[in-house]
Amino acid sequence: MSTPSNPLKAVRGTRDLLPPETALWNRVESIARAVFSRYGFGEIRTPIFEDTSLFARGVGEETDIVSKEMYTWEDRARAQSEKAQSLTLRPENTAGVVRAYIEHKLGDTGQLQKLYYIGPQFRRERPQRGRYRQFWQIGAEVLGPTTSGSESPLRDAEVLEMLATLLDELGVKNWQLALNSVGSTEDRKRYNAALREALAPIKSQLCPDNQRRAETNPLRVLDSKEPADQALIDTLPKIADYLDEASRNHFAQVCAALDSCTVPYVINPRLVRGLDYYTRTTFEFTVPDGSGLGTQNALLGGGRYDGLSEMLGGPRAPGIGFAIGEDRLILTLQAQAEAPAIEPRTLNLEPPKLDAYIAPMGTERNAAALALARELRRAGLSVEVGDGSFRLKKSFEAADKVARHIIILGEDEVKSGILTVKSFATGDQFKIVSEEIASRLCTAKQE
Ligand code: HAM
Repeated sequence: MSTPSNPLKAVRGTRDLLPPETALWNRVESIARAVFSRYGFGEIRTPIFEDTSLFARGVGEETDIVSKEMYTWEDRARAQSEKAQSLTLRPENTAGVVRAYIEHKLGDTGQLQKLYYIGPQFRRERPQRGRYRQFWQIGAEVLGPTTSGSESPLRDAEVLEMLATLLDELGVKNWQLALNSVGSTEDRKRYNAALREALAPIKSQLCPDNQRRAETNPLRVLDSKEPADQALIDTLPKIADYLDEASRNHFAQVCAALDSCTVPYVINPRLVRGLDYYTRTTFEFTVPDGSGLGTQNALLGGGRYDGLSEMLGGPRAPGIGFAIGEDRLILTLQAQAEAPAIEPRTLNLEPPKLDAYIAPMGTERNAAALALARELRRAGLSVEVGDGSFRLKKSFEAADKVARHIIILGEDEVKSGILTVKSFATGDQFKIVSEEIASRLCTAKQE
């Protein structure tokens, strides 16, 4: 077989995440899990692919996601009696969570469901920094029957306050929260009519994309990023003027609760978001500085929904949720760590060092080195084993990079059971009987 001249690469828009960067991903995820559990959330894991109609119905046929970004295929029938099924890699996770809520009758508990998820999503977007075709989201949904309090503005404010706390605990600096209300389905009908009317005379001056949106889904014109159209879009009617009293009240209570928690926000009347299921509160968090994402790429987005469960054949279950773009969050943390103005950090971006590196002197000591490593690892220590073929200098260099201590295992050490250890932090070198090394290193770990 001849060697192929072009080695295979990861598919465009996908990427490998490698150590040590994955250690940062894990730390971000464990902080998120810890915060979510303090707020009473439990984890949900839904399948990565679902029936295509879930997203067509749940996310909306007219959205960019469903109309052009989904990875969809006909799943082959395995038997004559079986019909081929159209399947889709999930482009987002809210529809899947609501499907699971219905399927498992979670509404029957009468309890408010607080569910979080961490996992990959797939959209066929144009790849760029912070925009991938496989990307990760850390998200959550709070939903339930209305008797569980799922409609309450308190839930919206609680979710937003939790996100502010999470970003603070992660050490994200200078985040901004933009907030809006897109009203009830009824409010939006009236607003859509007003938008269509206002767009009719100016439509021909807009870019082709916005001309199409003005016809199919006028709300989408509002979140258009087309620079040439911005001045005209700013003249369009504002949704705030079309909210009924109940929606206005709801929004006022969300804002009041945020004020009482001192969570800062700005109201952006053009924030309508790109998915069809939103009602009332919508929001995005952005980080304007330094992440290289550009101001148009939100770190996270979300909002309230009502009618989604019914659209998928379930009982009424209003809710609110969000999804953080984990790739963008990591890029932001890395970019902010490099910016000297932004200090101090709460999250150490460097991977933690191992407790010890065992350096066997000569390959005859490899087996003893592995046995010692086994003992230390079983005691809860993180350990790397070198190789007996390495010279002492090479072992020291390797150890210094990854570990806090080096343990030298030469012929004498194996015979006498007395080990030579050096701490890289203090420069101390000491001898210790092998029975005591585990507890000594465990103590050092706690210091
Ligand atoms: P979304 O705004 O489509 O909302 O996505 C949420 C976040 O995912 C975005 O703010 C962004 O950070 C990240 N994201 C989206 N597309 C990409 C991409 N191609 N590459 C990298 N990151 C990306 C939703 O998905 C809703 N399900 C959120 C939600 C939950 N609303 C209610 N509940």
